[in-house]
Amino acid sequence: MTRAILGSTKGSSSAAASRSAAAPPAPAPPSEARRRNPGLESKDDRTGGRAIARRIAFVNEKGGSAKTTLVASVAAWLALERAHRVLAIDFDPQGQLGKVLGVDVRSLRRSAIDLVLDGLLGDGSRAPLRPTAQAGSLPLVATRIPGLDLIPAEKTLGLLPGGDWAGHEGSGRLAERLRRAKELSGYDYVLFDAPPSFGPLTLNVLRAAEEIVVPVPLTFLALDGCAELVRTISMVRARHSHPALRISMVVPTFYRRTRLAHDVLEKLKCRFPKEIAQTVVGFHVKIDEAQSRGLSIFEYAPGDRGARALAALAEELEARGSDASGGIG
Ligand SMILES: Nc1ncnc2c1ncn2[C@@H]1O[C@H](COP(=O)(O)OP(=O)(O)OP(=O)(O)O)[C@@H](O)[C@H]1O
Ligand SMILES: [Mg+2]
Repeated sequence: MTRAILGSTKGSSSAAASRSAAAPPAPAPPSEARRRNPGLESKDDRTGGRAIARRIAFVNEKGGSAKTTLVASVAAWLALERAHRVLAIDFDPQGQLGKVLGVDVRSLRRSAIDLVLDGLLGDGSRAPLRPTAQAGSLPLVATRIPGLDLIPAEKTLGLLPGGDWAGHEGSGRLAERLRRAKELSGYDYVLFDAPPSFGPLTLNVLRAAEEIVVPVPLTFLALDGCAELVRTISMVRARHSHPALRISMVVPTFYRRTRLAHDVLEKLKCRFPKEIAQTVVGFHVKIDEAQSRGLSIFEYAPGDRGARALAALAEELEARGSDASGGIG
C-alpha cells in the first residue's frame, strides 16, 4: 500500500518561480517528511557524504509518453515523502520540466546548455563559444520543493554549435561534466529528462546515466520505440564502454480499459518480464491540471487516483534500488 502523500504547497507557483529564478539552491531545510519523522535517514546520515546518487534517465523516443511527467513526479515524491536530495536535469530543448516544476525558465541566465559549453570552455584549444561567468559551477536552481533542485533547459540546447555531438567525445560531454561536478555528491538521485528522439542529446543522457526508466504509452506503435531503445542501449554499452547502463523499469502509461491497451500491456510484460512496473499509470486529468499550474500532483490533488499511482510508481522505483536487475541489450 502506498504511503500517505504530503499535501499543502507553500505560496503560489508564480511566487515560487520568481524565488527559484533569483536564488541559487541553498542547503535544503529539513523537509516536511523529515520534520514529521526525524528518524528518516538522508544520504549523508547513511554514508558520510559518499557520492552514490542513482542516475536515472527517463527515455522514450516517442513524444508525449509521459517522460517529463514521471521525472517531475518521481523527483517531487522522493524529496517530499522521503527527504531525499534530488537533482532533476532537463536535457530537452522544449524546457518543459522547469515549467511543470513551477520554475520560470525564461528568467534564468544559465541552463543545461552551459553544462556542455562549460566543457568546451575548459578545452584551451577552442575559443569560448559563450562566455559564462560561473563556468565552474553547475547551473542549478532551487525549486519550491525542499530538497529538489533543477538544471533547466531551454531551446538553445537544440542549437548546439557544430562538432561531432554523436561521436565519442561529443556524446560524452554531459557525463564528463557531471563526473567533475563536486555539487553532485550532495544528491541521492539525479533524474534526467530526455527529448523525444535518439539524437546527440539523448546519447549524452544515456552516457551520463546508469539506469533507464522507459515510459510506454499503451498504444499501437508503443513497442517500436522500445525495440529501438534496446538497440541504442546495446550500442552505448559496447561502443562507449558503459556496461553498467541498463533498463531498471518499463512503465505503462496512459492506460485505458480497452482491448488494445490490454494487448499492448501483455506484450510489454512478455518483452520486459523483470523490468515491467507493477504500477500502471492511467489517464488522470488532475495530473495534466497540476502540471499546467507548475505544481506536483502531490501538492495539487494528493487524494487523486493519479497521485496515488505516481506515488506507488516512485516507491517502486526507489525499492528497486541501484542494483535492480536489467539485462536488457
Ligand atoms: N497519466 C496522465 N494522465 C493525464 N495526462 C497526462 C498523464 N501523464 C502525462 N500527461 C499529460 O500528457 C502530456 C504529455 O506528457 P509529457 O510531457 O510528460 O510527455 P513527454 O514524454 O515528456 O513528452 P515529450 O516527448 O514531448 O517530451 C502532458 O500534457 C502531461 O501533462
Ligand atoms: Mg518531455
